[in-house]
Amino acid sequence: MARPGAGREEPCSRLRGWRLLAGVGMVLLAGCSTIEPLIESPASLDGEGGALTSEQAEQKARAAARPLDHVSLRAKYRRPAELPDGARASGPVVALGHKLFHSTELSGNRRIACVTCHLPNAAWADRKAKPIADNGRPMARRSQTLYDMAWASAFLWDGRQDSLAGMVSGPIASPDIMGLSLDAMVQRLAFSPEFSADFERVYAGVGPTPETVSDALAGYMNTLRSPATRFDRWVKGDERALTPAELRGFKLFNGKANCVACHSGWRFTDEGFRDIGLKDTGDRGRGRIKPQIESLAFAFKTPTLRGVAERAPYMHDGSIATLEAVIDHYDRGGVRRPSLSPDMFPLGLAAQEKSDLVAFMRSLSGPATSAHQADPEAMPQ
Ligand code: HEC
Ligand code: HEC
Repeated sequence: MARPGAGREEPCSRLRGWRLLAGVGMVLLAGCSTIEPLIESPASLDGEGGALTSEQAEQKARAAARPLDHVSLRAKYRRPAELPDGARASGPVVALGHKLFHSTELSGNRRIACVTCHLPNAAWADRKAKPIADNGRPMARRSQTLYDMAWASAFLWDGRQDSLAGMVSGPIASPDIMGLSLDAMVQRLAFSPEFSADFERVYAGVGPTPETVSDALAGYMNTLRSPATRFDRWVKGDERALTPAELRGFKLFNGKANCVACHSGWRFTDEGFRDIGLKDTGDRGRGRIKPQIESLAFAFKTPTLRGVAERAPYMHDGSIATLEAVIDHYDRGGVRRPSLSPDMFPLGLAAQEKSDLVAFMRSLSGPATSAHQADPEAMPQ
């Protein structure tokens, strides 16, 4: 495949070339970012990067044809009232999981707890591009939100885990995260008068084991539901719950902007793995696990957009600082390469459309509605 658009990721060089071609001249070169707003319709730049592939053109046409009436939109975004079967744990299990999640006993140097990188007021992610592990070193990827884990079926940015209970001991034992071997963890908890009594009460006759620790942590994390927001009131039928800008943004999301191709359903994710054309940093994501599938090179899990306004910076590498810049990325369509999803193409959004999309995404954050979400960011020292 010819890749004439491979260099298009640099907005400055792209605009520069276009401006020069258009004969506008050198005066604009210095303040590249200031000329961005002058571009009303980046669609006119399409030709520069080469025509859309037939797959992209097909997806673009499909996006424009999606029904946007309120009845069909509402039907697609209704939140379930209850946790799924199998995700409900008893009160004592959840309480023990809460305690473990906040305890530095689970890290080798007792410097960090799960909550260090999964903060309640950052939608259970953190606000760093690279969180700092117990060994003092930055991790390779950004932390993920833990909202609505009970409905998830693939875990981590590359989906290398397929169950929540199976994955929780991962961060504890990993030398790149909490750095405490599971044997040492069991010893610590068994020798702690407080934890050993807790475990005896909740898992009588079994006590602390990797399985009971996972069970309690998973039971707790399954309760971390995203708060219902004004958007959910709109879905329930309250026409006035969203502002006109938010509603326009929601329609763009489902139509022209094509976001729903991947961020679908009430959690705003299809849990698929896609290359959205971010700059190559050497991390091949899902592609490292399934190297034989070309489309998975640089593919990462589609994140939920619930609580998205609270957890900048964005993407697996924290490379995009704001929601406005996220929209600019999608508007440009991403780096063209063989793995780029055909659902990525230049969108040709006007300035108003961009700000409507951002307004809509902000409507997916809301006030805390449960005790857990109101949990103070108390980090045990
Ligand atoms: C030092 C920071 C750090 C600590 C401490 C930490 N995590 Fe994470 N967590 C991350 C990062 C970074 C990722 C994404 C890693 C990846 O995809 O490779 C992640 C991902 C996850 C996910 C996957 C979410 C999803 O959507 O797939 C879960 C669940 C999780 N962590 C739970 C925990 C639990 C439970 C603990 C404590 C035992 C913990 N984490 C401790 C940084 C941390
Ligand atoms: C082809 C599938 C696809 C399309 C289309 C798509 N996204 Fe995404 N989105 C993803 C994936 C995959 C990621 C994570 C990418 C990564 O980190 O490498 C992501 C990440 C994001 C993030 C960052 C969230 C976070 O927690 O880091 C936001 C915000 C976002 N998308 C919004 C949108 C909006 C708005 C649109 C429409 C303009 C859109 N997306 C279109 C798949 C898609």
